[in-house]
Amino acid sequence: MASLDRRVVIDAARAAGQLLKSELTGSRRIAYKGSPTNLVTEMDARVEELVVGHLTAAFPDDAVLGEERGASTGRSGRRWIIDPLDGTTNYAHGFPAFSVSIGLESAGRIELGVIYDPSLDELFVAERGHGATVNDHPLSVSTTSTLDESLLVTEFPYDIREGGDNNLREYSALSLRARGVRRLGSAVLDLAWLACGRLDGYWELRLGPWDVAAGSLLVEEAGGRVTSLTGGALNLDSPSLVASNGRIHTAILRALREVRGGTP
Ligand code: IPD
Ligand code: CA
Ligand code: CA
Repeated sequence: MASLDRRVVIDAARAAGQLLKSELTGSRRIAYKGSPTNLVTEMDARVEELVVGHLTAAFPDDAVLGEERGASTGRSGRRWIIDPLDGTTNYAHGFPAFSVSIGLESAGRIELGVIYDPSLDELFVAERGHGATVNDHPLSVSTTSTLDESLLVTEFPYDIREGGDNNLREYSALSLRARGVRRLGSAVLDLAWLACGRLDGYWELRLGPWDVAAGSLLVEEAGGRVTSLTGGALNLDSPSLVASNGRIHTAILRALREVRGGTP
């Protein structure tokens, strides 16, 4: 991985995080994306512009997929996948659990992932085959070996009020088997905190590519495992996900299968 890639993406993530932090206490203009629980603030778009500006200035031939502006094509075979503000609901409430996530995909595989949490000033970087770091310190997943002793995390879909496949049964089942199940409101931080051993496992039913691009590489490079909800390969285009320290992965898959049916 060229050091220029790392440098540019780290600069972009830090600049984006600083902008988010500096505006956190200001008043928010909130709009809704399709459902009353799916918020978007003016900061989502502002930060995405900033990140895309950094990346396209340095790499004009690369494609970009941003959560807010969608996809633009490129000629290089590389694609930047950006969540400018993960944890928008938290951000809109001034709740300091949000982050910036940028992944670099090349030939269909994520090769570089950067997540920045401005509240804790934590910069997570993963490069395929070269491990993962937080603020330049190598990180690794936890060694917890049973579900009973595990701290898990999950999130709920924005259309939760519409009923259907809304994760409440899964949440209930795993809450009875694990030491605890948290809900942080940021899929990106869930993956970053799993990668550094603060959490042992994470599942979520429906995500976007920008939620998991950087974080899934971080977990794998920290020694963890990432699959679909049924244990297959992660589908980056339409992710459903179980991520863990590896040791408790089968137990999470089994619990989900008992609730949801099917065979992993
Ligand atoms: C959302 C958050 C939330 C998760 C959703 C994501 P956003 O991202 O990560 O925790 O449950 O699946 O879409 O909208 O804050 O960028
Ligand atoms: Ca997100
Ligand atoms: Ca977002």
